[in-house]
Formats: sequence, structure tokens, C-alpha cells
Amino acid sequence: MKREKLNVAVIGLRFGMAHIEGAAGCGANVAAICDVDEEHLRFAGERYGIPEEQRFTDPRALLGREDIDAAVIAVPDQLHRELSCAFLEAGKHVLCEKPMALTREDARAMIRAADSSRRQLMIGQICRFTPAFEKAKELISDGTLGDIYFLESEYAHDYMKLVDNWRSDPLRHGVIGGGCHAIDLLRWLAGDPAEVFAYGTHRLLPQVPYDDATVAVMRFDERTMGKVFVSTGCKRDYTMRTVIYGTKGTLICDNTSPTMTLFTADDEGVTKEPRILDVEVNNHNAAREFAEFADSIAEGRLVLTDAREGARTVEVCLSIIESSKTGRPVRPDYSF
Ligand SMILES: NC(=O)c1ccc[n+]([C@@H]2O[C@H](COP(=O)([O-])OP(=O)(O)OC[C@H]3O[C@@H](n4cnc5c(N)ncnc54)[C@H](O)[C@@H]3O)[C@@H](O)[C@H]2O)c1
Repeated sequence: MKREKLNVAVIGLRFGMAHIEGAAGCGANVAAICDVDEEHLRFAGERYGIPEEQRFTDPRALLGREDIDAAVIAVPDQLHRELSCAFLEAGKHVLCEKPMALTREDARAMIRAADSSRRQLMIGQICRFTPAFEKAKELISDGTLGDIYFLESEYAHDYMKLVDNWRSDPLRHGVIGGGCHAIDLLRWLAGDPAEVFAYGTHRLLPQVPYDDATVAVMRFDERTMGKVFVSTGCKRDYTMRTVIYGTKGTLICDNTSPTMTLFTADDEGVTKEPRILDVEVNNHNAAREFAEFADSIAEGRLVLTDAREGARTVEVCLSIIESSKTGRPVRPDYSF
């Protein structure tokens, strides 16, 4: 099926509005929008010129519709399993927002639903479509940086005005809620960590029942180490500063910066003057993400961030949270 023929329903119309734009931007047809909140539904409907007969308040009303091929699930994290599984079981492809789930049990149920439906279940790890991080992946793959021995990423985002809702659920720890972006990025660039160890503090967001700052170190294999810092109480602009150290070069980048800094070495291995690379700032590249979803359906291949990829990221996040609570290293269990 071509992108232009894909009929999609977007469920949850706050961040979901980025998906309406992403889907429409790559030629898909937004056939229905849905939100339990009538005001959010009306706002999105008017903003994007979606006729009233294509607006719904109950997602289940869309399950049996022949004119819908795929659903974007952009509702609170606690509902990802229920709605993703319902749409998969109804034969629809699903693009579910990150984090895939807040528990291992939910993630496994979603994998089972994807497997038995034979439909795509994409998890919206949108940072894999951020131009700066795509460029970082390219510079690793083409050998410019050499062998990677250390990489770090931070997710710092002031949640002071964001947590008076479902984000205050103890299961929605900052490491999985937003930190999953930095953790998924490291997994994409370096593979699955074999072991993690973490510390956390809780000083800035008394209104949430979990730490608001966590630092985790990890070992990918005997040659590669990593670090993630997550702060949801920080007093600064949103950032995902990321530094990648390889045997031939070092890259410093950020999804909020229009430039990246690339260091390489001369023939004697001495660091040369850095090169400044221009890059588009687009930290929520919903159009590229949706294009990958639509193309994977059209080409009948597994989507880049499939259910198991989403679940591996959940597994690392939960292992980091567990380590910060127990003071012990944790080896993530990827057996699913
Ligand atoms: N990829 C990213 O960078 C990114 C950014 C923001 C949010 N998110 C994710 O997107 C999802 C939504 O986040 P948000 O910021 O839009 O949250 P939000 O609370 O601002 O909005 C959620 C919307 O879903 C609606 N909703 C709730 N239950 C529903 C149901 N059963 N059926 C239909 N609609 C329902 C609500 O009325 C609301 O309009 C979350 O999973 C979040 O983690 C991802």
C-alpha cells in the first residue's frame, strides 16, 4: 500500500496533533481523530479542517471501521497497552507513542499482540529521526569515529508545569517517561547494555513520588561504556546533549543545536581543529517518523522501532530505576 493510500486514525490530540501533521505531511490520509475530551477534539478538528463526521470521542468506535488501516496511539502512557492491543487485534497497524509501556508485563502483552496480528507495532522513539542523531549514527556507521568506547546522553527537561496529571503516577518515573529518549538513543548507537548501575536524587519536584534526577552508567560490552543523565526538575532549557567518543574521533551534538562539533585526528593520532557541522534542528520529527511507519507497511518489512525495540528500551529504563532504588548493578533481561 502506498503512503497516499494509508488511512490513519489519530487517538489522543495533544502531542497527537504532531502526528496529524506528520501523517498529512507525508501524504497519508487522516481519516479520523479521537479524544475523550470534547474540547481537545473540537480544537484539533478545527485546526486541521477535519469534518465533524470524522471526529470521535470513543476509540473503540473506530475498531471495526474498514476505512481505517492504522492508528496512532498518543494517549497517556498507562493506556498504551489497552489501546494498542485493541487496534492490533482489530487488524490495524499501530504507531504507539513512547514509552511503549510502564511495566514489563504490558510490554510483553503488546509484543504478543503484534506477533499474533501480523501488523506493524511501531514505538514512537522519535529521537531516531532527529537530524543530529541520524548524522551521529552515520558517522559511527561509516567509520569516521572509529570504535566507540564511551557515549553519553542527557535528557534534561523542566517538568515543573507538566506533572500535575498522569505523569505523577509512581510507575511514570522520569527515567522511563522522558529519559527513555536518551536511553533509546544510546541503544540505537551502541547496542543493548549488558549491565547498568544508577544513583538518583529527589530534590526539585516534591509533587512526584519518584526521583527527579538520575545518573546511570552502563557497560555495553567489554570495550564500550555509556552514561545517561535524566533530570526532570532542572532549571534550564530542554536539551538532549550527546557526546560520542570513538578511537578515531569525537562528536558533540544536541537535538536543540543547529551545529555539531566533530573532532578527528591526523595521521599521528593527534587531535585536529574541530569541524563544525550544520544540522537542522528538528527534535520532534513526526513527519520522518510517520514516513518510516508508512513505508514499513508499504514495503512489508519490520519497522525500525518495532515492538521488541520498544520493549528493550523499557527494559533498560526499568533496570536503571531498579538499580537506583537498590544500590546494586542490574543486568537487563532481553528475553522476550
Ligand atoms: N515523542 C515525544 O517526544 C512525546 C512528547 C510528548 C508526549 N509524548 C507521549 O505522547 C502521549 C500523550 O502525551 P501528551 O503530552 O499528549 O499527554 P496529554 O495528557 O497532554 O494529552 C493526552 C490526550 O489524550 C486524551 N485521552 C486520554 N485518554 C484517552 C482515551 N482513552 N481515548 C482518547 N483520548 C484520550 C486526553 O484527553 C488528552 O487530550 C504520552 O504517551 C506521552 O508520553 C511523546
